[in-house]
Amino acid sequence: MYKPIQANKDTFWVGVNDYETDLFESLWTLPQGVAYNAYVVTGLNAAAAIDTVKGPFLDEYINKLVQALDGKALNYLVVNHMEPDHAGLISQLKTKWPSLKFIGNAKTVPMLKGYHGIEEDIITVKDGDTLDLGGHILKFFTVPMLHWPESMVTFDASTGVLFSNDSFGGFGAHEGGIFDDEKVNSRWEDEMLRYYACIVAKYSNIVQVALKKLGALEINNIFPSHGTLFRHDVKQVINLYDKWSRHDADNGAVVVYGSMYGNTRHMAEAVCAGLSGANIKDVRLYDVSRADTSIILRDIWKFRSLALLACTYNTQLFPPMEALCSKLLNRMPKNKFLGIAGSYSWSKGVLTALHDYAEKSKLALINPEVEVYTSPTQEDLNKCFELGMNLGEAMA
Ligand code: FEO
Repeated sequence: MYKPIQANKDTFWVGVNDYETDLFESLWTLPQGVAYNAYVVTGLNAAAAIDTVKGPFLDEYINKLVQALDGKALNYLVVNHMEPDHAGLISQLKTKWPSLKFIGNAKTVPMLKGYHGIEEDIITVKDGDTLDLGGHILKFFTVPMLHWPESMVTFDASTGVLFSNDSFGGFGAHEGGIFDDEKVNSRWEDEMLRYYACIVAKYSNIVQVALKKLGALEINNIFPSHGTLFRHDVKQVINLYDKWSRHDADNGAVVVYGSMYGNTRHMAEAVCAGLSGANIKDVRLYDVSRADTSIILRDIWKFRSLALLACTYNTQLFPPMEALCSKLLNRMPKNKFLGIAGSYSWSKGVLTALHDYAEKSKLALINPEVEVYTSPTQEDLNKCFELGMNLGEAMA
């Protein structure tokens, strides 16, 4: 977007699209880019920016901000979150508007000093504190760990806009429109779930607390700091967040395999055939060595069944599967059915490791556990088929 966009009364989007960062947090792919949404609310008496954007976008951001201010000074910067994708230009705003005051909470303060050397002109707010801009009273709510300890959201009661920062955010740059009613759902919902699974999922229990905390607000719009702005159907995204954070999922299965010479892949295909035999229509098969981890995580969050199959490597779990299990234990998806299977040639080990993951995950382990020596026999493949059938029937 090349100019600020009015998003509500006296409220402007002044964000940017980033098509050049290839890995978000140096971890997660960005095939559709990513947007850093920032805002400004221009009241009768004062103007407040809500977050900034990532450092390299200084000129574009300031240009939009100045246009939106239309000759007014910027009086406040609300720092909803200190991660540099939103706080990257804090120092530069202070240079341009020297009387600028920062709004943050007690946990924001040491980070302002640490990242930017800022120790003055900070207004420290607590849950429910307000800032009157004239015609717009901003209210602040802390949402610790969504996504960092200092994270908070800002609510404008006069417009019903919730500036939600990372919460309700999604990957994907804006293509044309920035609002939900200007896009098809399929273009943002998958990217929002991928963002949730990668960035937010670990804190799902806290999402539930935050949803209850914000539940009393009359929210008309949700404007997150990444991805689509919701003004048409706020309820649908609140429902999605509620669903994902309750670990509620759809009938369907993700089958992930790690295989060096194709034997474990044959087993995985037999599990998929079993799932299909149980009339499960949405089955997604991923090679853990090659598939995009963020998409695997997204789909694990989306579906109720998961099968993990791997070969043994140096007496242990095949390393890419070990890395996936580590990411899963970090996020702890719940309410799923789990199948495990593995193969070995000269040393066992993989099934013990997958069993260890299964115990730690607390997911419902479905039989049979299949362990194969060298290449699978027809009997082995039949057992894998049975595992797929049982996973499918468990969801009935
Ligand atoms: Fe988009 Fe946690 O920063």
